[in-house]
Amino acid sequence: MNNPEEIALTPENKNIIHEWTIEQVESASKPNFGKVFVTAPYLLALMGDVSSRDVLELGCGNGFWLRMLARTGARVTGIDLAENQIEAAKNWDDPNTQNIDYRVGDVSTAIDLQEKFDVAFFEHVLLEIPTKEGLENAIQNAANTLKPGGSLIISDMHPFAPSSRPDNLRIAEDFNYFDSAAPFEIQSKRMDGEIIYYKDVHWTLGDITGAIAKAGLKITDVIEPLPSENDVTQYPEELSYRLTHPMAIMFKAIK
Ligand SMILES: C[S@@+](CC[C@H](N)C(=O)[O-])C[C@H]1O[C@@H](n2cnc3c(N)ncnc32)[C@H](O)[C@@H]1O
Repeated sequence: MNNPEEIALTPENKNIIHEWTIEQVESASKPNFGKVFVTAPYLLALMGDVSSRDVLELGCGNGFWLRMLARTGARVTGIDLAENQIEAAKNWDDPNTQNIDYRVGDVSTAIDLQEKFDVAFFEHVLLEIPTKEGLENAIQNAANTLKPGGSLIISDMHPFAPSSRPDNLRIAEDFNYFDSAAPFEIQSKRMDGEIIYYKDVHWTLGDITGAIAKAGLKITDVIEPLPSENDVTQYPEELSYRLTHPMAIMFKAIK
């Protein structure tokens, strides 16, 4: 997918986050390098053994993680705002698909699933929520879905990524770290070699941890995942920049 428009990345322009066109839904069905080599090993380790546990993914997209978790014996539910993402998830050709409860919904508004889950998680979703109120509501709603003692896991863009200005990320000239919800554009290389462009929003460390604390959860882990040496040696062009630029962050918090 080519980068069609060079929109000025100013705070006034923050409503440019992508809307999950059919083209983007199709593109997201092919994972990128970061998802496979950086996010997957750390996210799954942070979750631990979820067999026979109730797991909710908020902003589940096409169900990439839920199929993987269902395969291990977890009982899984996914919510996503984009009807076409849920459609793609429901039609996925995978024997685990039929065991997944998919729902269309906005996680920034109330979720009708109180105290039902052992684990709830967001993976690259906060960066698509355009307001601080929406961010705080989403995290509070996620906390409300947890059973007492349940875990919330958040995996997202590292808050320092825009400030470290990696070559694959475009921000406004006058971007500063404290511009909560400032838009940025990131290029992501898929495993099939194609480059795709996403427009997302920036959150500070305080925005994310503050929302977790406000929801009454206790943070127990903060992880800045890196690719393994072996994977960097095999794919230096796609992965080595991650050794010098903070690109991803994960939080685990307990109810
Ligand atoms: C980058 S995709 C990640 C999908 C999935 N978590 C994954 O890692 O494969 C972000 C997803 O979050 C969804 N999303 C964004 N804002 C949302 C909201 N307020 N409520 C529910 N889903 C939302 C989008 O529709 C999109 O499918």
